[in-house]
Amino acid sequence: MDTTTTGDLDIPANIAETLVDPVAYADDRIHDSYRWLRANNPLGIARPDRFDPFWVVTKHAHIRAVSRQNDLFHNADRPTTLTTQALEERVRKITGGPNLVRSLVQMDAPDHPKYRALTQGWFMPANLGKFEGRVREIARATVQRMLDRGGACDFVEDVALGYPLHVIMEILGVPEADEPRMLKLTQELFGPQDPDTARVRDALSAEQVSAMLQAIVADFSAYFRKITEDRRRNPRDDLATVIANAKIGSDYMPEHDQTSYYMIVATAGHDTTSSSTAGAIWALARDPAEFAKVKANPELIPGLVDEAIRWMTPVKHFMRSATADTELGGRKIAKGDWLMLCYASGNRDEDVFEDPDRFRSDRKPNRHVAFGYGAHLCLGQYLAKLEMRILFEELLPHLKSLSLAGEVKMTQAYFVSGPKKLPIRFEVN
Ligand code: HEM
Repeated sequence: MDTTTTGDLDIPANIAETLVDPVAYADDRIHDSYRWLRANNPLGIARPDRFDPFWVVTKHAHIRAVSRQNDLFHNADRPTTLTTQALEERVRKITGGPNLVRSLVQMDAPDHPKYRALTQGWFMPANLGKFEGRVREIARATVQRMLDRGGACDFVEDVALGYPLHVIMEILGVPEADEPRMLKLTQELFGPQDPDTARVRDALSAEQVSAMLQAIVADFSAYFRKITEDRRRNPRDDLATVIANAKIGSDYMPEHDQTSYYMIVATAGHDTTSSSTAGAIWALARDPAEFAKVKANPELIPGLVDEAIRWMTPVKHFMRSATADTELGGRKIAKGDWLMLCYASGNRDEDVFEDPDRFRSDRKPNRHVAFGYGAHLCLGQYLAKLEMRILFEELLPHLKSLSLAGEVKMTQAYFVSGPKKLPIRFEVN
């Protein structure tokens, strides 16, 4: 990409700055920017300070077009999430590549399909069915704890954070006592810009950020090394046993790949599901008519789940890079160019979704891209939807009314974000 030219390709500096400003993701300014971009420059170049220039892909059709051409748009060649130049340089010094870990997200063919096949079956509906009973027990206990709060709670703290964490840790095979450690590591990894979750609260230098990220990876690595040793000696019916014993060819996975694999499963599955779950309750709490509609028609619960995932879109972006010169939406993309897939924008695209800012549990069809698209399509989508459906099936019949009881606060993060405080009031039937 020519880094010096400016012109009608470039998006205005103030809009580009919101894309890299974690705070903009916490106060809805990001949606103003996305709306402007879709209308005025749906595929333009952002050149914010401290970052390499990148294409900003805001239309649903373009996000799908990039995501399904996995040979033309790679994951592994450049950072898979937005990263400053200084941080990328540090990471390259440490690992020799653009990313600190090598999970499914940071792989391309031929490795990606081989590694994905190792656990894909576990995450398919046919296998997940066997967990449904246990997930329902966890959901019931979670709902009971909420009801015991006596009419008011912080839905994030009391329900949304713990529930998906507990489910994925059981499936993975991590003991309950270690869940707080996993939650903290995930929040530090996904929202390092949020002052409430970051390890260091002030503005960080690239050295500090890379040291922090390395420490997080080292924590995960040390933790899961013990789990691997145990599952090779004492295999169980859990996902850790599959990862610990998986072979690529005739050998176990290299240790770094294995840590990365545990990390993606241990982290990708709960913050995202928590944010979507909280999004659903937020939407129902501020709209009594929508709440009444879902209460009266429980068959709308799967629609509620999908709409919450669309409306919240917890994963705001992933990056890709072009492996060859190509054309997209009338723009000439050059080999090596970096592209930001703005899922949360695609999910409010007026050409695809009628009245896109409105939350409608009966939205049909709902072809959102919150789980991505193509070869990297979220491995955990069926699990996330199953967990959410079961929670609402267990919770909604108990609730007579639901309303907001204070200010909703969002995490400040440009990668994964959602409500971090959701005070609600409720009456029980
Ligand atoms: C990948 C979103 C829940 C595991 C992804 C991607 C997105 C995403 C956007 C990238 C897709 C792409 O590049 O095309 C979400 C959302 C969730 C959720 C919004 C909840 C509502 C889960 C759960 C798990 C999970 C419960 C379970 C462990 C993964 C994995 C990948 C992935 C392993 C990498 C797949 C690959 O690169 O092949 N997810 N996810 N996710 N997700 Fe999820």
